[in-house]
Amino acid sequence: MQRKKVIAANWKMYKTPEETRAFFTVFLPLVRDHDRDAIVVCAPCPDLEAALDSARRTNVAIGAQNVHWEKEGAFTGEISAPMLLALGCTHVIVGHSERRQYFGETDDTVNLRLKAVLETSLTPILCVGEVLEEREAGLTEDVLRRQCTRAFNKVSAKKAAKLVIAYEPVWAIGTGKTATPQVASEAHGLIRAEAAKHFSQEFADHLRILYGGSVKPQNATALMSEEEIDGALVGSASLDPKSFAAIVKY
Ligand code: PGA
Repeated sequence: MQRKKVIAANWKMYKTPEETRAFFTVFLPLVRDHDRDAIVVCAPCPDLEAALDSARRTNVAIGAQNVHWEKEGAFTGEISAPMLLALGCTHVIVGHSERRQYFGETDDTVNLRLKAVLETSLTPILCVGEVLEEREAGLTEDVLRRQCTRAFNKVSAKKAAKLVIAYEPVWAIGTGKTATPQVASEAHGLIRAEAAKHFSQEFADHLRILYGGSVKPQNATALMSEEEIDGALVGSASLDPKSFAAIVKY
């Protein structure tokens, strides 16, 4: 099954609007005409306008890093899916492990966010992944199953057609430790099987599962050569335009 890969940047809490424009000035010429993979940059909210403006009429899509499940309301500090859509975003990360670890995100709130995003034309990048203690205790399979089952709760295959999943083992994020292509592939296979169980085999065959966790230009080729790996979600190595372009062109 040929699936078009998605190479996505997750800038986390880095860059000002000015730095965002400077990034695109260098990045865009490096990836011009690249259509083998979809390219997405998920920027902090204050940078979205600069990112959208810089990437207009190019092959680079822009996304946000989190979204609230209500359309609007008294939720100080939150941003809704219709707001991101109105701005021109096409993607949004849902349930990143840093949200789960530091901001009280649970499987249930991830499910609410995912359902809200799937009510719009935004493409969600749903993050799942085990922490080190879970891997060492042999719980990886259980954790991935639980995270998928809970995220997919009351989500139909029809609604989820655009869903992208990112497998991000928490022990590999920002640590310089990358899952080997085999370890990642194994986890991706598990997630795909879970999607087949909940949705259908056909759905699972089309589902793009990205790998995230210390992806760098030096390890991108090996990871991206795995049949199970349909792209990358890149944190620190996406902040530098040359390094992110090198990953896009692995
Ligand atoms: P990293 O982050 O590439 O810096 O490990 C990946 C992520 O958190 O999405």
